Amino acid sequence: VHQLANQHVAAEDLLVSPLWRAEETALPKPVEIYGHLHGELRLNSQGMDMTYIAERSPALEAALALRVKTPEEIQVEEVDPLMHTLHAGQMRWDAVPVERRAEILAQAAELLETRQDKLLALIMREAHKTLADAVAELREAVDFCRYYAIQAKALMRKEALPGPTGEANSLSLRGRGVFVCISPWNFPLAIFAGQVVAALVTGNSVAAKPAEQTMAIAQAFVELLWEAGVPRDVLALMPGAGETVGAALVEHPLTGGVVFTGSTGVARHIHQGLAAKEGPIVPLIAETGGINAMIVDSTALAEQVVDAVIASAFRSAGQRCSALRLLCVQEECAEEILTMLKGAMQELVIGPTIHYATDVGPVIDVEAQTNILAQIARVEQGGGKLLARCAWPPALLENARVTDDSVALTMQDDQQRNLHFVAPCAYAITHVSQVREEIFGPVLQVVTWKAGQIDALVDAINALGFGLTLGVQTRIDGRAAHIAARSRCGNVYVNRNMIGAVVGVQPFGGEGLSGTGPKAGGPHYLLRMVAEQT
Ligand code: SER
Repeated sequence: VHQLANQHVAAEDLLVSPLWRAEETALPKPVEIYGHLHGELRLNSQGMDMTYIAERSPALEAALALRVKTPEEIQVEEVDPLMHTLHAGQMRWDAVPVERRAEILAQAAELLETRQDKLLALIMREAHKTLADAVAELREAVDFCRYYAIQAKALMRKEALPGPTGEANSLSLRGRGVFVCISPWNFPLAIFAGQVVAALVTGNSVAAKPAEQTMAIAQAFVELLWEAGVPRDVLALMPGAGETVGAALVEHPLTGGVVFTGSTGVARHIHQGLAAKEGPIVPLIAETGGINAMIVDSTALAEQVVDAVIASAFRSAGQRCSALRLLCVQEECAEEILTMLKGAMQELVIGPTIHYATDVGPVIDVEAQTNILAQIARVEQGGGKLLARCAWPPALLENARVTDDSVALTMQDDQQRNLHFVAPCAYAITHVSQVREEIFGPVLQVVTWKAGQIDALVDAINALGFGLTLGVQTRIDGRAAHIAARSRCGNVYVNRNMIGAVVGVQPFGGEGLSGTGPKAGGPHYLLRMVAEQT
């Protein structure tokens, strides 16, 4: 990859990401360049190969030394005047030509790239992501800006629809009003940015309510959008708790739409709240969790399976809605794969994410750690048998507090903040239906299945009610297609890991308990954010 980069690609070309600029690079087809940040090069060869390489830079080192400054939460009483301001601002913003709004998004993408050091450092410090995860997240945010800008320009063109009688009919789209965007801590930049810029480019104003754990990253992005040209009466940051500020925003009579990414329970609560309130019927886009499975048959390539499982279950400490929760291995190859998996798990380095060698960082906070521990206990009570658990590196054990039989560990970082770790682990269970809940952490459950049971297995996975991601590992092409057709999952990944959906190429989102759709980073997303006029 480095060789390709050095030989064929000018540095300036590499500083831009999207597919549609790939033509400008000199890389041989069918390799296309997506982006380059801190030595990362994302390549796509015949639709699938992607490679990330992340390096540190002196500027990133300097930024990493900074302390995270969290913005002050707003009071509930401030919500109403802010919503009136955004409502008034939206009328003017909607009249701005879509080309200009798209230009502002493109400018925001440029700023994301030029400010990458500070933003990467913030993501690593505030959300405890590794450098590789932070780079991927920044790249995704850039892609959302450029992708939705292009989508909006195509979508919002006024379309003439001449009638048979010669009437001058036309269809045009406009923003719906004030969109409330409520985003999670696990993608504090990418998901936050995706929601906000999609709503903005379609002519809505935005009340942005980031997760309480990652408000500094949200503030940095909002400031960047203001600088790029989004008026302040069109975009407001509403830092605060979900129960207070979030609830006041959802309940507000001027709310024209809600985008929410987070837990299924909170999505249901928002849905009920919107349904119960007086006034206009308000659309909701909800993207929630999943009990995501990977089906491995006896023809699968064992090394590839283990690689995909490690990345899917344990990267980002398992804190992705796309992450693998349930590995389903055909009996004939189970022993080989599980032996290799245990070996690979022992190679994982757990530690603070500002250490470059770290594979698995801490979970987001003490509540998450406590919750995951309780969930592990429930797996054990339900008959789950421990297959493997990663060991703590000796360096981490010094000065750390280890709780609960080595499952969890808490330590202080160089800025005296507590880091809460959960050791990646895998449990054997006997049937898919034993999985009762999504565990949002590095905890994998494993079942085996017998030849001839594939349909029953897919049906059992469907019966869990979620429908976000599914992995399939097989060398029988027809089987992969059969499983995908029977599955109710939004994203089916064949012979690769099942995380890190790429904007514009792998539109992301599920069905059932996993959300309402439309898919983020896909061609239909913006349609839910507009009103149509004939
Ligand atoms: N979009 C993310 C991914 O694909 C999900 O959280 O991993």
